[in-house]
Amino acid sequence: MSDDGDSTITVNGKAVALEPNDTLLSAARRAGATIPTLCHDERLKPVGACRSCLVEVEGQRRLVPSCLTKAEPGASVVTDNARIRRHQSVLMALYLADNVDAAATDDTADASELHELAEHVGAPLDWPRLETIREQRSIDRNPYIEFRADRCISCARCTRYCDEVESVSAITLAGRGSATTIATADQVSLMDSTCEMCGGCIAVCPTGAMTEKRPLLQLLKPATQLKKVRTTCNYCGVGCQLDLNVDEAANEGRGQVVKITSPEPGTMPNDGNLCVKGRFAYNFVDHEDRLTTPLIRNADGSYREAPWDEALAYAAKGLLGVKERHGADALGFVSSSRCTMEENYLVQKLARAAFGTNNCHQCAAT
Ligand code: SF4
Ligand code: SF4
Ligand code: FES
Repeated sequence: MSDDGDSTITVNGKAVALEPNDTLLSAARRAGATIPTLCHDERLKPVGACRSCLVEVEGQRRLVPSCLTKAEPGASVVTDNARIRRHQSVLMALYLADNVDAAATDDTADASELHELAEHVGAPLDWPRLETIREQRSIDRNPYIEFRADRCISCARCTRYCDEVESVSAITLAGRGSATTIATADQVSLMDSTCEMCGGCIAVCPTGAMTEKRPLLQLLKPATQLKKVRTTCNYCGVGCQLDLNVDEAANEGRGQVVKITSPEPGTMPNDGNLCVKGRFAYNFVDHEDRLTTPLIRNADGSYREAPWDEALAYAAKGLLGVKERHGADALGFVSSSRCTMEENYLVQKLARAAFGTNNCHQCAAT
């Protein structure tokens, strides 16, 4: 029993103060315990599907799923002992028995959470292998998302995310037992379902079963050889945080964004969620039509390339000329909700402080 008897539990002999809605998992993690999870996600209601987070609770005969079990005051919990380690190792070996070979990991050479966990708990890899009977989706013409049934462990992270976070319910668990798979209603393409192509199902999948098509086709380097750069999405004014995965050697050393991944849940303002544009529309960066050098219009209407210094001086001269001839209020400065707040601030500062007009606007203001 804990000291005050009603607001703490003991985790591996250490007292932890309880917080509202604590599960054994959340309280134990606060106490510094490492508990593996596969079906758990902070954004989703716990379901206890994968059984990788089992712990021992004093007085209970069976191991209990820590993600699903409410932390009752006074409970005494053990998160790591020989019995728990044996359970984890056997569980992972069973998952791998009808999954892809551990060494094969992913086509992009990235180990999935499942394979990393299996290695971490020392799961035996020499158990007899079973043929996967989970039904593959028929070829889906959607451009972004690939489902590979042989890697699925039916943890339902993808379907719960789709339902609870996106409120879309485009995908569901279908079938029974070891034939359980992920499907759309009537097996239609995601394009013909309610799917919004947010890619959240890819982000939460711990096995690589739900994955992005394009990197698969491009045979990307492993994630360890890509540089992750946290940045702010520039598609709208929300300011979502995302990670650019950059192949620094590509484009003759200029680098190339080859994939976008979402940061971990809890990263604000988007809590690790992205929309279709933020997650998949990154190829514009290297599009051949993209302007990378300023252009100055010649007298005959044609354009010539110019260095930045010259272009900025040219634009400033033109704007000052309008002010001189017609007054500052003949100028107007229009910014965009696709810029960051800081950039919008600078545009209004440029209008007011540098050119002396309050004529500044931004599309999100209408
Ligand atoms: S992309 Fe988004 S909306 Fe579509 S199935 Fe996945 S989670 Fe659901
Ligand atoms: S596709 Fe991935 S997230 Fe969905 S149930 Fe299978 S393993 Fe879990
Ligand atoms: S993480 Fe607890 S059962 Fe899956």
